Amino acid sequence: MTVCEAPGKVYLFGEHAVVYGEPAVPAAIERRARVTVEPRADDHVRVTAADLSLDGFTVEYAGTVDDPPDVNVPASLVDAAMGYVDAAVRQARAAADAPDAGFDITVESDIPLGAGLGSSAAVVVAGIDAATRALGVPLDRRELADRAYRAEFEVQDGQASRADTFCSTMGGAVRVAGDDCESIDAPSLPFVIGFDGGAGDTGALVAGVRALREEHDFAADTVASIGDLVREGETLLADADPTVSPSSELLDGLGELMDFNHGLLAALGVSARSLDSMVWAAREAGAHGAKLTGAGGGGCIVALDPSPETPTALSFTQGCVEAFRAELATDGVRVVEP
Ligand code: PMV
Repeated sequence: MTVCEAPGKVYLFGEHAVVYGEPAVPAAIERRARVTVEPRADDHVRVTAADLSLDGFTVEYAGTVDDPPDVNVPASLVDAAMGYVDAAVRQARAAADAPDAGFDITVESDIPLGAGLGSSAAVVVAGIDAATRALGVPLDRRELADRAYRAEFEVQDGQASRADTFCSTMGGAVRVAGDDCESIDAPSLPFVIGFDGGAGDTGALVAGVRALREEHDFAADTVASIGDLVREGETLLADADPTVSPSSELLDGLGELMDFNHGLLAALGVSARSLDSMVWAAREAGAHGAKLTGAGGGGCIVALDPSPETPTALSFTQGCVEAFRAELATDGVRVVEP
C-alpha cells in the first residue's frame, strides 16, 4: 500500500492571465488530498472517494470511465472526480510502461472541491505519485508535475495552466509563466480563506475571459495589467527575507496588489456577489488585501491578515460558510508512512 498526500493552493496573484502566458504566483497551503494506492492482480481500477464532498461512493471499473458508475450522486460530480482519477491512472500506467496495471485507490481530501484551492491538482499529483511508487517506478518531481499537468489538461479540455499542478508538487510559493515553472522564496504569509460553499465552472470562466479578450482591446489590456502587477509582486517577494515573519510594509504592498488583482478579475467578469462580499468584509476588518482565488464564479477568497479580525468578520459574513487560516505548505507532495 502506498499513500501520498499533496497540498492545495491559493493564487497570491495571476489566475486567468496565466492562461495567456503572463506570470502567476500560487502558494501551497496546508490542506491536503491523500491518495492510497494498492496494485491489483487484474487490470481493474476500484476507486473509493469517501470525502470528496460527494456523499461518499465506491466504483469499480475496467478500462475507462465511459460506462457511468451506478451511484446516488449527481453524474456531473462523479464524472469530474472520476475523470481526474482516471487521467492520473493513465499517466501512471504510461510513466511505468504498465498499460494493464490495476489499482485499488482511495481518495480523501480536506480541500473544498472546485473552489479555487486546487483540489483536483492535489488529487492528480498525489494519485500519480502513489501509483507510480506502488509500481516501483517513482518519478522525479519535474516529471511528476508535468504528468499531472497533462492529466489536468486532458480532463479540462486544454483549459489548464501548469500553475496548480506545479505548486502542489513542489510546495511553497512558485512562479509559473507558460511552460516556465520555478519555486520562489516567500515568507510564511498570514493567509485567511473564506469559502462560500460553492464552486465555479473553470472551463466556462476561462472561455468567458478568452471571448472578452478577443472582442475588446481593453480586456486584453486588463489581462496584460494583471501580468504587470504580478511582476511587481514578484519583486516585493524577492526583496523580502523569507526566513522572518513578513513586515507590515511587505503585507501592505502585497495586499494592495491583491486588491488591484481582484478588481481586474471582477472587470473580466469572473467574480461573484458572494466573493465580492467576502473580499469587502475582509478589507473592512483590516486585512492588508483580499482577492478571489482560482477560476472564480464562486468558491474561495484569500486575504492577508495576521490578526483574528478577518476570520471573525468572515464568519459573520452572509454567503461565507467557512473561514479558516491556511499555513504555507513548504512541503509539496509527500509519502505518508502507513
Ligand atoms: O480554480 P482553480 O484552482 O482550478 O484555478 C483556475 C486558474 C485558471 O488560471 C483560471 C486556469 C488555470 O488552469 O490556470
